[in-house]
Amino acid sequence: MVASLRLARGSLFAGDFRVIRSIGHGGLGTVYEAEQLSAHRVRALKVLHPQFVEDEGIRARFEQEARVAAHIPSPHVVQVIASGVDEASGAPWMAMELLRGEDLEAAMNHRGRFPPEEVLEIFRQLCHAVGQAHGLGIVHRDLKPENVFMARAPSADEAPTVKVLDFGIAKWVDDNRTSQENSQLIGTPLWMAPEQAQRSASIRPATDVWALGLLAFRLLTGRAYWKSAGPPPSVAALLSELLNEPLETASHRASMYGCAGLLPPGFDGWFGRCVVRDSTRRFSDANKAFAALDQLFGAASEDDAGEGGDLLGDTMQLDGVADQMRASVGVAATMMAPTPVRTPPPPPSRMAIGEAATMVGPTPVARPLRPGPPVAPPFARAAVTVGPPVPPPQVFPPPSAPSAPPVGMDLSVPLPVAPRLGADGPPSPGVKMVLGAVLVVLVVAAVAVMLLRR
Ligand SMILES: Nc1ncnc2c1ncn2[C@@H]1O[C@H](COP(=O)(O)OP(=O)(O)O)[C@@H](O)[C@H]1O
Ligand SMILES: [Mg+2]
Repeated sequence: MVASLRLARGSLFAGDFRVIRSIGHGGLGTVYEAEQLSAHRVRALKVLHPQFVEDEGIRARFEQEARVAAHIPSPHVVQVIASGVDEASGAPWMAMELLRGEDLEAAMNHRGRFPPEEVLEIFRQLCHAVGQAHGLGIVHRDLKPENVFMARAPSADEAPTVKVLDFGIAKWVDDNRTSQENSQLIGTPLWMAPEQAQRSASIRPATDVWALGLLAFRLLTGRAYWKSAGPPPSVAALLSELLNEPLETASHRASMYGCAGLLPPGFDGWFGRCVVRDSTRRFSDANKAFAALDQLFGAASEDDAGEGGDLLGDTMQLDGVADQMRASVGVAATMMAPTPVRTPPPPPSRMAIGEAATMVGPTPVARPLRPGPPVAPPFARAAVTVGPPVPPPQVFPPPSAPSAPPVGMDLSVPLPVAPRLGADGPPSPGVKMVLGAVLVVLVVAAVAVMLLRR
């Protein structure tokens, strides 16, 4: 077992991968561009961070990611081609289709906000992937801009394709599409739903819907919804906002940021069905959230929208259910990147994203916005087969036989595992004190790691 593992350019990994360069990293692993020698193909090779190699729980999560992604029938989920364990280092790895382009975080950092037509198209593809996962009872639990990749099409005049990454902390839920309990306290505070911070709460597809609402707000305005998102970010203040403070409407928050006019009419109603603390009042899954957004944007473009149309129903007001969450405990926080204040550029005529993409399989047909053609051309539709066939990849068990649930916390700054509490119900004062102490330690650790990373 090696103490550290940083794959050098030209090095051979797992007997079959010649490393070309590092192209990204997250909380779980580093991603390299590497040639798979046996297949004569260039892949994205993700290797578990060395400090986690001996952590069985995290290894299980890494291995789960490969299985989960392989089972979701959507061209908008990154394709995992093979996986294994490197004998020399003991590090698990997975080989994925190599995407050219950039993730949404990088795209927003240089583009600022996105025009509504592009947001709708991004959501069409994003929600296809997440909706298919939800159909299988899989909850992503870590939807955030870094995990949504805008893959450039092979041809320069085609628009990019959305690919959802990183099912590393995805959770299989039961037949009722609700987990019995949230046994892990994981998430990224900027994007995680309140129930992800509450041990006794249920995780269900609606958990991802919360993040979808926040993501739409960020894409449309170029700003994070949360006041505490920074700069500079404050984890403690953010958690307080997330769990306790009244949730203002999207337009109220956008006005505060000086960008209210960027939200389409009726957006408040849609947002209020996503970012509502009571998960039973949210859209039940990504498909329903997208259907309502599509209707909303269509109505907006026809300029006859009221407050979002039929799919929004009559539950448009934001909740005042802060009190439900006031007793929430056991929050595991990770530090989030500061959200810079940006001057949004003028809407481009098409999406300006990275390099050529390798796509597999059909892409759902995109519909133009009503009444006229979209400002941006439709996303890429062309498909290029990934070939030639590679040696038999690891056989993945079906999703009906999930591995043990992931353990601990995740994300850009890995932190220690939060203590498990007893049965559901309010915690004792002693437990609250322990959790309070853990939270303080986590925040300090996150700040330290963030500073080290600078
Ligand atoms: N298949 C891929 N092709 C190109 N870049 C990728 C690919 N997968 C991941 N990346 C890049 O690497 C980053 C980290 O990958 P991710 O799977 O999210 O790792 P982690 O689980 O550690 O968060 C992503 O944000 C993305 O920028
Ligand atoms: Mg990630």
